[in-house]
Amino acid sequence: MAEPVCAQKGSYPVDLVPGDYWWCACGQSKKQPFCDGSHKGTEFSPREFKAEKSEEAWFCACKRTGKQPMCDGSHKKLT
Ligand code: FES
Repeated sequence: MAEPVCAQKGSYPVDLVPGDYWWCACGQSKKQPFCDGSHKGTEFSPREFKAEKSEEAWFCACKRTGKQPMCDGSHKKLT
Protein backbone atom coordinates (compact mmCIF):
# COMPACT_ATOMS: atom_id res chain seq x y z
CA MET A 1 0.00 0.00 0.00
CA ALA A 2 1.27 3.46 -0.90
CA GLU A 3 2.13 5.97 1.80
CA PRO A 4 -0.01 9.10 1.97
CA VAL A 5 1.67 12.45 1.48
CA CYS A 6 2.51 14.24 4.72
CA ALA A 7 0.67 17.55 4.24
CA GLN A 8 2.20 18.99 7.40
CA LYS A 9 3.98 17.65 10.49
CA GLY A 10 1.33 18.55 13.01
CA SER A 11 -2.41 19.00 13.12
CA TYR A 12 -4.98 21.38 11.67
CA PRO A 13 -7.18 23.07 14.25
CA VAL A 14 -10.70 23.58 12.90
CA ASP A 15 -13.70 25.35 14.44
CA LEU A 16 -16.41 22.86 13.57
CA VAL A 17 -20.08 23.56 13.16
CA PRO A 18 -22.54 20.64 13.07
CA GLY A 19 -22.45 18.90 9.71
CA ASP A 20 -20.55 16.50 7.48
CA TYR A 21 -16.87 16.88 6.66
CA TRP A 22 -14.60 14.88 4.36
CA TRP A 23 -11.08 14.53 5.71
CA CYS A 24 -8.29 14.20 3.13
CA ALA A 25 -6.53 10.85 3.61
CA CYS A 26 -4.12 11.11 0.67
CA GLY A 27 -2.40 14.32 1.79
CA GLN A 28 -2.60 15.93 -1.65
CA SER A 29 -5.57 18.24 -1.14
CA LYS A 30 -4.93 21.98 -1.45
CA LYS A 31 -7.79 22.55 1.02
CA GLN A 32 -6.29 20.74 4.03
CA PRO A 33 -7.42 19.09 6.14
CA PHE A 34 -10.37 18.45 3.83
CA CYS A 35 -10.69 16.65 0.49
CA ASP A 36 -10.63 18.64 -2.74
CA GLY A 37 -10.77 15.65 -5.09
CA SER A 38 -6.99 15.42 -5.60
CA HIS A 39 -7.03 11.76 -4.51
CA LYS A 40 -8.53 10.71 -7.85
CA GLY A 41 -6.27 8.13 -9.48
CA THR A 42 -4.75 7.10 -6.14
CA GLU A 43 -5.74 4.27 -3.83
CA PHE A 44 -6.91 6.75 -1.18
CA SER A 45 -10.42 7.92 -0.40
CA PRO A 46 -11.56 10.71 1.90
CA ARG A 47 -13.00 9.80 5.29
CA GLU A 48 -16.35 11.20 6.36
CA PHE A 49 -16.63 12.88 9.73
CA LYS A 50 -19.91 14.02 11.27
CA ALA A 51 -19.70 16.91 13.70
CA GLU A 52 -22.52 16.76 16.21
CA LYS A 53 -21.85 20.13 17.82
CA SER A 54 -19.83 23.30 17.46
CA GLU A 55 -16.37 22.73 18.88
CA GLU A 56 -12.69 22.98 18.06
CA ALA A 57 -11.08 19.82 16.71
CA TRP A 58 -7.55 18.91 15.62
CA PHE A 59 -7.46 17.04 12.34
CA CYS A 60 -4.45 14.94 11.36
CA ALA A 61 -2.13 16.63 8.87
CA CYS A 62 0.61 14.00 8.52
CA LYS A 63 -2.03 11.41 7.44
CA ARG A 64 -0.48 8.71 9.64
CA THR A 65 -2.78 8.94 12.63
CA GLY A 66 -4.23 5.80 14.14
CA LYS A 67 -7.38 7.73 15.07
CA GLN A 68 -8.58 9.05 11.69
CA PRO A 69 -9.43 11.78 11.09
CA MET A 70 -8.11 13.30 14.32
CA CYS A 71 -4.49 13.84 15.32
CA ASP A 72 -3.04 11.24 17.68
CA GLY A 73 0.48 12.64 17.83
CA SER A 74 1.88 10.26 15.18
CA HIS A 75 3.58 13.22 13.46
CA LYS A 76 6.04 13.32 16.36
CA LYS A 77 7.49 9.99 15.19
CA LEU A 78 8.22 11.26 11.66
CA THR A 79 11.81 12.04 10.80
FE1 FES B 1 -6.97 13.69 -0.33
FE2 FES B 1 -9.41 13.58 -1.40
S1 FES B 1 -7.87 15.03 -1.79
S2 FES B 1 -8.53 12.23 0.04
